[in-house]
Amino acid sequence: MSSLKFDNVTLKFGGITALNNVSFEVKPKSLYAIIGPNGAGKTSIFNCISGIYRPTEGDVSFGENNIKDLRPDQVADLGIARTFQNIELFENMTVLDNILIGAHRHLNYGPISSLLYTKKTRKSELAARKIAEEIIDFLEIEQFRYSYILSLPYGVQKRVEIGRALALNPEVLLLDEPAAGMNNEETEDIARFIIDIHEEMGKTIILVDHDMNMVMDIAEEVMVLNFGEKLAEGRPEEIVKDSKVIDAYLGVS
Ligand SMILES: Nc1ncnc2c1ncn2[C@@H]1O[C@H](COP(=O)(O)OP(=O)(O)O)[C@@H](O)[C@H]1O
Ligand SMILES: [Mg+2]
Repeated sequence: MSSLKFDNVTLKFGGITALNNVSFEVKPKSLYAIIGPNGAGKTSIFNCISGIYRPTEGDVSFGENNIKDLRPDQVADLGIARTFQNIELFENMTVLDNILIGAHRHLNYGPISSLLYTKKTRKSELAARKIAEEIIDFLEIEQFRYSYILSLPYGVQKRVEIGRALALNPEVLLLDEPAAGMNNEETEDIARFIIDIHEEMGKTIILVDHDMNMVMDIAEEVMVLNFGEKLAEGRPEEIVKDSKVIDAYLGVS
């Protein structure tokens, strides 16, 4: 298993500096959180990891690989999967089909072999179905298996999106504000699933949120980002006492 590392990453969009000289390391199997107010640069960090943005300066590495210049599909193939702040699912498809897409990709089920529909393809189809069903059970969305995404409550959609990422069988899971827009009950559910994915599946998780509450309960290590800069890093109990964090982020004067 590999560490994910940022070395002095700066990301600029014209005159805007989204990230300014940010460094951090996420160790294998850890549950690492990045918090900060809106516009702090949290999603930009995920976009730099997953090949959507390219850092202006600095390096992003995963184990031995420098992943700074890779395409999103290449990053996914190395074992890094993500969810998006605004859910990105196929809305006119069922829960099962959305999750199967991830599973097929993981099994390398190419368009050519699916056209030929060989014995190997049928086997791979069954394997994908098995992976998808296990994830559906794990996330407790059995009763929504054949429901269309559009018809589902937001909290369930979010779980499906996590399911699709898990179907890739990633080593690292990036979760961008998984509890945004959820009520308390949904937030508690999602927190429990994140803990289970971390502990039972043994995944490395990087969790981004602007709201400290859930993150402080479940993260092992927290980085605080403010205006694109790393303000603090440490265990949750240290972070809540940090005067820089209290001043800048919690808005206590
Ligand atoms: N594609 C882009 N083009 C221009 N500015 C961007 C782009 N993506 C992000 N930014 C800017 O970078 C800063 C950080 O954004 P973002 O990473 O989305 O923050 P967060 O996820 O913490 O809310 C913001 O000022 C945002 O407007
Ligand atoms: Mg964001």
